[in-house]
Amino acid sequence: MKSAILIKGGRPLAGTVKVHGAKNSALPILAAALLAPGKSVIRNCPPLSDVNASLDILRHLGCTVEQDGDVIAVDASTLSRWDIPDGLMREMRSSVIFLGAVLGRTGQAELSFPGGCELGPRPIDLHLAAIRALGGVVREDGGRLRCAGGLTGREIIFTRPSVGATENAMLAAVAASGTTILCNAAREPEIVDLQNFLRTLGASVRGAGTSMVVIEGGKPLHGGEYTVMGDRIVAATYLAAAAAAGGEIAVSGVTPGHLATVCAVLAEAGCVLRQEGDVIHLASQGPLGGAKPVHTAPYPGFPTDAQPPLMAALARGTGITLFVEHIFDSRYRHVDELSRMGADIRVESRVAVVCGVPRLHGAAVEAADLRGGAALVVAALAAEGESRITGLKHLDRGYWNLEESLRGLGAEVVRRRLDS
Ligand code: UD1
Repeated sequence: MKSAILIKGGRPLAGTVKVHGAKNSALPILAAALLAPGKSVIRNCPPLSDVNASLDILRHLGCTVEQDGDVIAVDASTLSRWDIPDGLMREMRSSVIFLGAVLGRTGQAELSFPGGCELGPRPIDLHLAAIRALGGVVREDGGRLRCAGGLTGREIIFTRPSVGATENAMLAAVAASGTTILCNAAREPEIVDLQNFLRTLGASVRGAGTSMVVIEGGKPLHGGEYTVMGDRIVAATYLAAAAAAGGEIAVSGVTPGHLATVCAVLAEAGCVLRQEGDVIHLASQGPLGGAKPVHTAPYPGFPTDAQPPLMAALARGTGITLFVEHIFDSRYRHVDELSRMGADIRVESRVAVVCGVPRLHGAAVEAADLRGGAALVVAALAAEGESRITGLKHLDRGYWNLEESLRGLGAEVVRRRLDS
């Protein structure tokens, strides 16, 4: 049944919101859990649709999975298969992250190509190059990938930093014999989170967070307990929402350093920010000024996933801000929808020019991707009148309890089933 989120905007936000665990940490950590022939308990693992798709894959592979709210137990001692059917792969593009873990644990893996997604083509050449470098034999056969081989550690130099390929290589390397050195690795905090989880399983991994990750493979692994880090993109979304709607909020459950570039843009646009432990406080008087050009980049640069919500926040304001998207080809799909709400944004290839307008108005809009959907929520909270946001399957991939959390901040938000 199709649903919509209805938002009556124009009310300032106030209060505290705790962010849930990071989707982009939870997914590789769930894949990692199948490397150890034991039971792992993973906390702060929100029941998002992408997480549930990962659990379906684990169950299909023979793992025993228990889910209680945001606590998940995975017993991988019963793992019995190495193939992932097309239907399960299609549920979630990031399911390619299972390649390294399944191959590492069983010596073989069969899965389908993830294909493109809402953000444009999503190649996996770097993932496959890493697996091949470790000795995996990969055959591409009518949309299916068949991989086999015992893995041996070695040096791998990535031609560009890729979050997923770095994680996939780490998972395979943990099971390989000997030492693997990953050079030009991605440095995202989620990779550090994966390293920390792998260590609780008994793996020897160091260097995550820098561009060189060293894995001494072949250590005996066992189950472990782990708490996933807070979701920095969800935090960025709530900060953008309060920046846009005005008010004063506290966002807890994150590492403020992970949001340094996002906070810098919001501060430049006129918000007052303060950090205290795992809390970021933000105060905003409403319409924002402009900011210096925002270039998305691999961590520690400005995150591409925070671009849409920040753009929405700057759409109502008095300044002009230039965004330059360097990571994905189709990352401005929210712009047409924001224009329906009165935003003045011009896109030319990778560049978007946001000219702040004095007011946005509510409209019926549709999310075309996950963070684009977050942008529509942010704009709707700042807009006068009611907005109706559809395309919720995208938002539900990455936001748990979104409406409840926003209501907790004083927003007027409900989810309604649509007839027909
Ligand atoms: C991860 C995040 C996603 C985020 C992105 C960039 C997860 C589950 N998803 O995606 O939310 O937007 O990082 O921070 O963690 N590339 C190749 N070949 C490859 C792999 C990637 O050319 O084999 C390119 C991509 O097309 C893209 C760039 O490298 O232009 C970065 O992509 P990557 O870091 O791999 O993103 P994901 O891991 O897919």
